[in-house]
Amino acid sequence: MANRPRVVLITGCSSGFGMLAALRLASAGCCVYATMRDPLKRVALDEEARRRGCSSNVRVCALDVADPSSVRIVVDEIVAREGRIDVLINNAGFGIGGFFEDLSDEDWRWQFDTNFFGVLNVTRAVAARMRPLRSGRIINISSMSAYSGLPALSAYVSSKWALEGFSECLHLELKQFNIDVILVEPASYRTRIFDDNARYARGFLNPDSPYYDLSVRLKELNDIHVRMNNRDPEEVAKKIEALVFCRNPRFRNIIGVVAKLRAWTVRHVPFELYAWTVQKALNGMTRK
Ligand SMILES: NC(=O)c1ccc[n+]([C@@H]2O[C@H](COP(=O)([O-])OP(=O)(O)OC[C@H]3O[C@@H](n4cnc5c(N)ncnc54)[C@H](OP(=O)(O)O)[C@@H]3O)[C@@H](O)[C@H]2O)c1
Repeated sequence: MANRPRVVLITGCSSGFGMLAALRLASAGCCVYATMRDPLKRVALDEEARRRGCSSNVRVCALDVADPSSVRIVVDEIVAREGRIDVLINNAGFGIGGFFEDLSDEDWRWQFDTNFFGVLNVTRAVAARMRPLRSGRIINISSMSAYSGLPALSAYVSSKWALEGFSECLHLELKQFNIDVILVEPASYRTRIFDDNARYARGFLNPDSPYYDLSVRLKELNDIHVRMNNRDPEEVAKKIEALVFCRNPRFRNIIGVVAKLRAWTVRHVPFELYAWTVQKALNGMTRK
């Protein structure tokens, strides 16, 4: 792998971490297949690739992770053209906000179809191509939300917990074929996940819901968070780039001080104390 450009497939490259990782890896000389559901959204990626002088290393393909046939078409196309896929970055994802009783079954399935089954779809297709070559790296973008529960985020948190369990098992299964499976666990960064791409439960902001007041308050807090969050997503893209090239990557890669603090808290603070703190915060919100 040392003398030829790495062939990298990334999902969800229309914005955020996916787009930035594609740009960094293309600038570093990789042959990047930057996939997105809707290639009409490629404008920002194209412009930035031109600015960075790496356009010739970026190829955009239509891929919806929730649609196994679109996954197969893209994977077959890459292997036909390049002969292999060295690195898969399972990045596509989104989060649905809403208390459990406001979330419909469709909301849950939609969340898991992308964040969990979407990863399975792409990994299944790519691992089958890596295994015979006994070489490859699969990088799954999880979240610090995979460490501890949060109210009004059960669908997202559960999807990332499931991704973590899957990734641990897959790491153990694929090591024998010289395929690394790695987790990236970022803190909160300024991407479109919190604004344009934020999704809410069917019953969110339904005045008849027993959670209505809390949902309104949490939505206000999210809007403040969007305005205040100035953490640069380039930090995550930089770490992803390092993980593509490093010889012996760690399995879990926590990014950002808040994520490190949260991981430490989960390990050292009893869950009951954490739950008490969250309860206090919720009580404070309803009194306002
Ligand atoms: N930003 C954070 O603070 C943060 C923290 C921890 C983890 N993460 C994780 O990081 C990953 C990237 O998110 P981001 O923050 O970069 O958010 P983002 O800017 O909203 O990007 C998400 C990307 O995923 C794509 N996507 C959604 N559903 C898809 C599907 N079915 N098939 C293919 N692509 C799909 C979106 O495409 P469309 O434009 O078509 O919707 C978009 O390109 C996600 O897995 C997220 O859970 C983010």
